Amino acid sequence: MKEIRLAYYSKPADTFRFTDLEPILAASRRNNERLQVTGLLGLTSTHFMHYLEGSREAVSTIFSKINQDRRHRDVTFYGVGEIEDRLVPEDPMAFVSGKAFSEELCMRLYGRKTIIPSLLNQRAAVALFAALAQNRPQMQASEDLLQEALQDDYFEISF
Ligand SMILES: Cc1cc2nc3c(=O)[nH]c(=O)nc-3n(C[C@H](O)[C@H](O)[C@H](O)COP(=O)(O)O)c2cc1C
Repeated sequence: MKEIRLAYYSKPADTFRFTDLEPILAASRRNNERLQVTGLLGLTSTHFMHYLEGSREAVSTIFSKINQDRRHRDVTFYGVGEIEDRLVPEDPMAFVSGKAFSEELCMRLYGRKTIIPSLLNQRAAVALFAALAQNRPQMQASEDLLQEALQDDYFEISF
């Protein structure tokens, strides 16, 4: 049976702080690895954008937990689709923020400086995740990105 991808965006809860990311990433890496799910979590200045891939059963199990998590709200589906190949087969939870959502990447993909997740359809969102996955080798390790996110004014969350 073919594997699937699932993508959504959501808004961090009003009480969300960057330090909340560490336990989220730790739990995600542990659970996703166990269930052989891989994916990419992006944090823009206003939203989470998340792409998950794996068996239908494993992705559904994980998504039902995510959907109930009070650390974010307004979880909005881009959709689910069958895939031939994984985007990030080696990474249970790649994390991208800060410079990865750089103006340059946005300009190239969308002709605008910031990503507004609600303006993307499923196809555009998948294209964005694919571009982020491809650019990852040039990016710093996730932990460095997390530190960068913690320090970077540009990615301070605004509500
Ligand atoms: C934006 C966001 C993304 C998350 N992504 C994942 C994920 O990919 N995998 C995962 O297991 N948990 C993820 N979580 C955390 C889950 O909602 C939940 O807290 C966690 O799976 C519980 O793990 P546990 O049952 O091992 O305690 C995410 C939470 C948020 C807010």
